[in-house]
Amino acid sequence: MYNIKLLNKISPVGVGQFDDQYLVGEDVEKEDGVLVRSASMHEYELNDNLKAIARAGAGVNNIPLEKCSNEGIVVFNTPGANANAVKELVLCGLFLSSRKVVEGIDWVKTLKGNEDAAKLVEKGKSQFVGPEIEGRKLGIIGLGAIGVHVANAAIKLGMEVYGFDPYISVNAAWGMSKWVKNAQNVETIFSECDYITLHAPSTKETKGIINQESIAMMKDGVRILNFARGDLVNAQDVLTAIDSGKVAKYITDFATPDIIDHENVIVMPHLGASTPESEDNCARMAVKEIKDYLESGNIVNS
Ligand code: MLT
Repeated sequence: MYNIKLLNKISPVGVGQFDDQYLVGEDVEKEDGVLVRSASMHEYELNDNLKAIARAGAGVNNIPLEKCSNEGIVVFNTPGANANAVKELVLCGLFLSSRKVVEGIDWVKTLKGNEDAAKLVEKGKSQFVGPEIEGRKLGIIGLGAIGVHVANAAIKLGMEVYGFDPYISVNAAWGMSKWVKNAQNVETIFSECDYITLHAPSTKETKGIINQESIAMMKDGVRILNFARGDLVNAQDVLTAIDSGKVAKYITDFATPDIIDHENVIVMPHLGASTPESEDNCARMAVKEIKDYLESGNIVNS
């Protein structure tokens, strides 16, 4: 019998793959394995019996990797399993960074009950003009599964796409449209692009990559999207650049107190992977990884 602890609500489609050799739940003790989504495990007590943790998602910064490695606990994630869901939200972010949809919707709400609403809309809509994205340059920092999905979709939307990733895998490179231009260095992305989207993990090299210095290299009116990890961006530097008009819009999936409700900033509540399809895919992959390891000792990070 294996004990599996659920630290988050995990899709029943995935959890259902455990057979009767497994006791699965939020309260199980002496767990052999943990399934986690976004909950932080940095304060979590790693019991002596724990052998594996599977993160139903891509980023593993909620897991104490060094501690796990010292204790011989294997950590899995589910690369690619939510790439389509994140791509779709990034496309949504791209459009929202250009067209003043959110601002327009908020404004229309203020006309509730106003008999002249239709007339006022006709007059007022000129404040909500925003550019089309077709023909504009999109820079992608990080070409893993999500970055490549975004690159291919943006090519189909008629954007000129530049990608930068010093560690791109052969698989990712094979899956990428031949029309994506290879930026030789990250500075090319900063200086050439009208839209910049981040798809890199949080590492020593990428933390704070969007900061005062990199923003200074960017075009006036650049639009920045962050659906990767909150700490890739120095939020204060972006806010200063928004206030000066250097950055036209910042769209992020990471809420930190300073950026919520700031003009020209749109903050989403970490919705990138929040589709039933992606939740099922991630759970299925995470459960398979844990089972393979506990039952056969196979370390297959799908
Ligand atoms: C990820 O890293 O893949 C996301 O944080 C997934 C999630 O929203 O749980």
